[in-house]
Amino acid sequence: MPEDKFVDARRLFNLAGKSAIVTGAARGIGRAVAEGLASVGVAVALADVLEDGLRDAEQTITGRGYSCIAVRTDLCRQEDRAALVERTIAAFGRVDILVNVAGITRSAPSEVYPNENWDLTLAVNLTAIFHLCKLVAQDMIPRRAGAIINVSSIGGALGFPNNPAYQASKSGVLGLTRALATDWAKYHIRVNALCPGYTHTDMTDASFRDPHTNAARATRTMMNRWGQPEEMVGPVIFLASDAASYVTGEDLFVDGGWLNAGLTEWQL
Ligand SMILES: NC(=O)c1ccc[n+]([C@@H]2O[C@H](COP(=O)([O-])OP(=O)(O)OC[C@H]3O[C@@H](n4cnc5c(N)ncnc54)[C@H](O)[C@@H]3O)[C@@H](O)[C@H]2O)c1
Repeated sequence: MPEDKFVDARRLFNLAGKSAIVTGAARGIGRAVAEGLASVGVAVALADVLEDGLRDAEQTITGRGYSCIAVRTDLCRQEDRAALVERTIAAFGRVDILVNVAGITRSAPSEVYPNENWDLTLAVNLTAIFHLCKLVAQDMIPRRAGAIINVSSIGGALGFPNNPAYQASKSGVLGLTRALATDWAKYHIRVNALCPGYTHTDMTDASFRDPHTNAARATRTMMNRWGQPEEMVGPVIFLASDAASYVTGEDLFVDGGWLNAGLTEWQL
């Protein structure tokens, strides 16, 4: 191969000097993603409703010498979403990467599912993502560059009991991701979905601590275990970087093999 065509993969994952917004950054998967991006040189705007968690994340990241700002944001409010984007651009000049991690879950059987929980879950998990993507695209489109990663779930693709709003919202995230990837490919904006399996965070702590539900979820994976928030970081870095330059409209399942398992060894 001629020397100038040599494939040097070291630059593919390089995100140094980029800027990102990470929602849900006060704890759990969002916080791990924010720390991970900061550690590879991305200036990160941390967005969440939880002020204490935000402050703690900000102090941890800046304490290590990395760049971030914390912006208290209720993602259901358009003025908060707009302020988040404005403050990020004021601080870092632009938004290269948007990672929509924030989400909620409210479980109840479908036949008695409270309407207000349906409305709130769809508002946080789906509608807020669309509106934030639109706002960030106003910055990305003129620059003809950007990477958006929307967090869905194995629940976006498979049936689970007693959580109709969560499943509808997470399926919606997959559809929205394909729609935006289709519409914005011409602007060189890639839009992908990350679909975690059961991951130990505050959201899932009760099931994790219960021996029966813990084992039921672990044995359903090929790997016989839960995921950890930091295991979502590498996939996000991949999707955000030039390593994924030909990847868009994709659903990346990070689930220990849950989606593709028929029967696992641990269920025998
Ligand atoms: N933990 C899992 O097993 C799992 C599995 C699949 C998908 N997910 C998804 O991953 C994402 C992160 O989940 P997690 O487990 O880290 O949960 P988590 O509850 O620990 O974190 C979610 C964060 O989102 C924030 N948030 C909620 N509503 C908000 C709003 N209106 N405005 C701003 N921030 C808001 C919360 O304050 C919290 O910090 C969610 O979208 C979740 O659905 C989680």
